[in-house]
Amino acid sequence: MRIPDIIIAIDGYSSTGKSSFAKLIAKEFGFLYLDSGALYRGVTLYAVEHSLIDSRNVIDEKALAEALPGIDLHFEDKGGCTMTYMGERCIEKEIRSLPISQKVSPVSALAVVREYVDRKLRELGSRKRVVIDGRDIGSTVFPDAEIKIFMTAAPEVRAMRRLREMQAKGEDVKFEDVLANVRERDYIDSHRKVSPLAKASDAVLLDNSDMTIEDQMVWIRNLIAGKFGNE
Ligand code: DC
Repeated sequence: MRIPDIIIAIDGYSSTGKSSFAKLIAKEFGFLYLDSGALYRGVTLYAVEHSLIDSRNVIDEKALAEALPGIDLHFEDKGGCTMTYMGERCIEKEIRSLPISQKVSPVSALAVVREYVDRKLRELGSRKRVVIDGRDIGSTVFPDAEIKIFMTAAPEVRAMRRLREMQAKGEDVKFEDVLANVRERDYIDSHRKVSPLAKASDAVLLDNSDMTIEDQMVWIRNLIAGKFGNE
């Protein structure tokens, strides 16, 4: 299926499988995949490594704001996989670590950080043929994106998916704790002051509670065919 030069924005709750879905869409249509969460994680890594955030998550906002223009965060395509870089250093692994995951929420809540990430995404998105996942891509960063998807799934289903991922990594966790964390992140993401998680009025809702990734690919092909025709 051929599709025009468009932007596909995928937002939604945590652990709904946004990035897996976005990566597959990028592969299928030959688009570039942009992971907006990776940029928030990259800024957080910088803040941690430069002691700009303390153990109580108090951030030296002024120093971080001054540093931001010089943090060379970017993506590089490595054999079809989008990897996140800070300068010459690949930070893909570090930004997914638990210490960074635990600090990314307060960092991503800062307006100055959101402006920095938004600017970067808009620069990258101007080339079109991109699929971007995040929390506010269709609502704030690219309100004119041609395709906007908002993903959700029952909290219990998302918690079970996360539990399996964590168990696969050898972590010893209880379902109830993971479920509590999913609910807590939903609350924080939806209630923060700047750019809270919210479905754009023109986004299409995708509840994948009972869907496989193959079902979702059928769903997106139909969505795209309905919008642009089936070439
Ligand atoms: O998708 P993720 O878990 O990698 O995102 C990391 C954090 O960044 C998460 O706490 C939510 C935040 N984020 C955001 O506020 N806005 C985005 N567009 C993407 C991520």
